[in-house]
Amino acid sequence: MSYDIVIVGAGGGGMYAALEAVRRNPALKIAVITKVYPTRSHTSAAQGGVNAALANTDKSDTVDLHIFDTVKGSDYLADQDSAAYLCEQAPILIRELENLGAPFSRLADGSIAQRPFGGASKYRCCYCADKTGLTILQTLYEQCLRYGIQFFNEYFLLSLEQEDGVAKGVIALDIRTSKIRKFEGKTVILATGGYGKMYWHRSSNAAGLTGDGGAACLRAGMALKDMEFVQFHPTGLRKSGLLVTEGARGEGGYLINNKGERFMSRYAPEKMELGPRDLVSRSVETEIREGRGFDSTAGQYIHLDLRHLGADLIKSRLPQIRELCIQFEGVDPINEPIPIRPTAHYSMGGIDCNTACETSVKGVYAVGEGACVSVHGANRLGGNSLLEILVFGKRAGMEAADLASKLPAAKISDQRLKDQEEHIAGFYGKNQAERYDVIRTELGTSLADNAGIYRSKELGEKGLSEILALRERFKKVKVADHSKTFNTNLMQVLELGNMLDLAVCVAKGAAAREESRGSHSRIDFPVRDDQNWHKHSIFHMNAEGEVSLSFKPVTMGKFELQERKY
Ligand code: FUM
Repeated sequence: MSYDIVIVGAGGGGMYAALEAVRRNPALKIAVITKVYPTRSHTSAAQGGVNAALANTDKSDTVDLHIFDTVKGSDYLADQDSAAYLCEQAPILIRELENLGAPFSRLADGSIAQRPFGGASKYRCCYCADKTGLTILQTLYEQCLRYGIQFFNEYFLLSLEQEDGVAKGVIALDIRTSKIRKFEGKTVILATGGYGKMYWHRSSNAAGLTGDGGAACLRAGMALKDMEFVQFHPTGLRKSGLLVTEGARGEGGYLINNKGERFMSRYAPEKMELGPRDLVSRSVETEIREGRGFDSTAGQYIHLDLRHLGADLIKSRLPQIRELCIQFEGVDPINEPIPIRPTAHYSMGGIDCNTACETSVKGVYAVGEGACVSVHGANRLGGNSLLEILVFGKRAGMEAADLASKLPAAKISDQRLKDQEEHIAGFYGKNQAERYDVIRTELGTSLADNAGIYRSKELGEKGLSEILALRERFKKVKVADHSKTFNTNLMQVLELGNMLDLAVCVAKGAAAREESRGSHSRIDFPVRDDQNWHKHSIFHMNAEGEVSLSFKPVTMGKFELQERKY
């Protein structure tokens, strides 16, 4: 199991990295290990589209405007060199993807169609109906198979291995057999996804978005960045939290309160429903808190009304949304408004890395939602996430391929395997009595209540102490299932441990940052404070599991700090 490049995660970022690496150097030995089948990765859940200033629908769009919208959307916390790279590469990557076979929706002249999306000043979002992520994922998977990339499906990441600041590979659990295996790698690319599932019942994320790569980095002594910035998407389905794409508002959908008002006129008079996500989520939450929501046993909600768009448009451009609404809410958006409320959707924070996807460990790269480059700063724009996995997936593949060609083979000692075996055996001890599902539910509730859309010092500190207490209880968690075959109980316990470590960072950052910026909205500090808080938060964990917080400067570029108005 010795490789030039070990890629963990088979979403769009991991697969683009694999594809780019093999195209750059076909002699490289590459392994992609993934806890779910590649075509079930969370990229498949991305609906509305991917941004690129192609200027197809709106001839006046430019790359510079895309950079500006991204930096403004980030509430000026994005590193401007990285944001510029993201937007400059966007048209190249979309054309490349088109040539690889991705069937984008088209304009009448055959060029790629673009729809308006939140926080964007032009029609910039390229799409494949409302199944853009799924389409991209299938396209990349086909290409990886074409190039003979070796996939290890249903392997769970246990640890990232490094020695003296140099990558050695990873240790992973074979979910089918419970065997623990080394994957020695001269380079490692972590494309493991975000951590939004820690909000559990209040999340649009797949069950597997448990921050496994970030947690492995913390345990390996590496830094996470900007963890307090968690994006709430304004339109999650009321009961399940599943995503209703911003594309629904891009196509002209209205948000309506119990007075029949299009209330966004009060919060974003110019952009209305297409304000940036942080602003629209706060507006929906405020309407609910101030009694202008609708009541139900499944909680309070707001209406997303698409009826005026007509059956033809809904069926052709939003077919998946219609299907989800019918299946999960019993509502057909052609005839009835959709019950929605904000749902934890995206992790702006993640593994600290630079524009070349490099981390502090030589040969370890991070990409996608699990990484923090940072191009999204305090608030990501819709359509920039699929873009990020393409642009930085490609970049990571390129960087890793070049470095791996120069390095000697990596070795992981057998002792490291034994350490992991002991760690897992600990969950079966006779004193283990806590149930993982109870801790997981309490974690989700605590985060939603204390580190949700609106925050304060008091709430943040309460959240932190609750999460630290849950972490103590986790030491006594038991794995009840002793089977060696597909032991999902064991996997969920391991995932919970990862979420708890990262939740400490989220709560610590939420309590510490005394300002409101992007998705981090403090009722006790309602204004952005550039003087004291225009800086990235950096989190480390020591061997005792204590998390420390420090800061580092934001990279500025041609856009000066200014007040954000929509
Ligand atoms: O609303 C959406 O379709 C989500 C897109 C995104 O998160 O970029």
